[in-house]
Amino acid sequence: MAKQKILVTGGLGFIGSHTVVELQQAGYDVVILDDLSNSDVQVLGRIGKITNSNPVLYQINMLKKNKLVELFIKEKDIRAVIHFAAFKAVGESAKEPLKYFHNNLLSLIHLLECMEEFGVKNIVFSSSATVYGDPDTLPTTESTPFKKALSPYGSTKQMGEEILEKTSAVKNINAISLRYFNPVGAHATSLIGELPLGVPNNLMPFITQTAAGVREQLTVFGNDYDTPDGTCLRDYIHVVDLAKAHVKSCDRLLEGDLTDKFEVYNIGTGNAISVMEIISAFEKCNNVKLNYKIDARRPGDAAAIYANVTRATEILKWKAELGLKEMVTSAWNWQNKLVGIVTEL
Ligand code: WQD
Repeated sequence: MAKQKILVTGGLGFIGSHTVVELQQAGYDVVILDDLSNSDVQVLGRIGKITNSNPVLYQINMLKKNKLVELFIKEKDIRAVIHFAAFKAVGESAKEPLKYFHNNLLSLIHLLECMEEFGVKNIVFSSSATVYGDPDTLPTTESTPFKKALSPYGSTKQMGEEILEKTSAVKNINAISLRYFNPVGAHATSLIGELPLGVPNNLMPFITQTAAGVREQLTVFGNDYDTPDGTCLRDYIHVVDLAKAHVKSCDRLLEGDLTDKFEVYNIGTGNAISVMEIISAFEKCNNVKLNYKIDARRPGDAAAIYANVTRATEILKWKAELGLKEMVTSAWNWQNKLVGIVTEL
């Protein structure tokens, strides 16, 4: 049977590249769209090294709709689109809200307009646990009501889901939205991972860069929260497990199994891990000492957020398999591959 073709927007990014690998290894044919604004074209060759198949790359900015139309004209038989391409820096979004609304929402709108025009029926949307804001009840289920987003980035994910829900209700489009919790780690080959473009906002790349001497010291943002050790609780999930959830979503869409035109799944492990637990696991599993200090809370941080993953397990037939040890060791192995290469954007 001919391989089914999947278009992956943002396919050279952190989660995108890991998803392309899993899609290819699951037997899908992959076409990548990436504007290289926050990724490295060398990732394409590294994907090929892992899977022995270099996907086709279109270097396109999705705000240029005519370029997107050209891709859909050339790539006739796209069966589904996985849409990662978006700006995702929480802090930057607070300083540049219009840039985030313009880019993240108009890219999605152009994509949906092309899908409708060219008869592409299926989309997997890269959403985020940040849509829940600072939830009142934990663990969050997919029905946990949205609180006010903690950043314009989070707002673009809430609005993106709204656009998908309303569009799929009346158009010939089926959508699955995956709400990622905290993606960490890297591929076992250390050929792909989280690329350190500029000073990392997220915990894990800051830890690995501190351990590698690229950063002087890690700052723990607050240990006075109402949690067991006073530091924030998060649901960290290995990026390879997260990638596999996208393959399962494509399987479900292409098998036509959806019960609703718009389905949502929490993609996490269901486990709440604190910042200090991450630090301890990192030091112990990698036999390194981390230079860190405790400082004031970071504005906008929720004390705790972690997932109820029943839906993904029962309906998507997906469950995270990799644990904390694989998360911290794969992240450290990847950092050592980079040997302090920090691309300042
Ligand atoms: C985790 C914990 C920090 C850095 C964000 C986005 C979310 C998703 C993942 C895109 C918090 C603490 C962090 C540091 C620290 N991104 N921390 N020192 O904020 O849970 O989620 O990234 O989709 O949408 O909101 O992740 O890694 O920034 O922080 O103490 O130098 O680590 O306070 O408690 P977060 P994070």
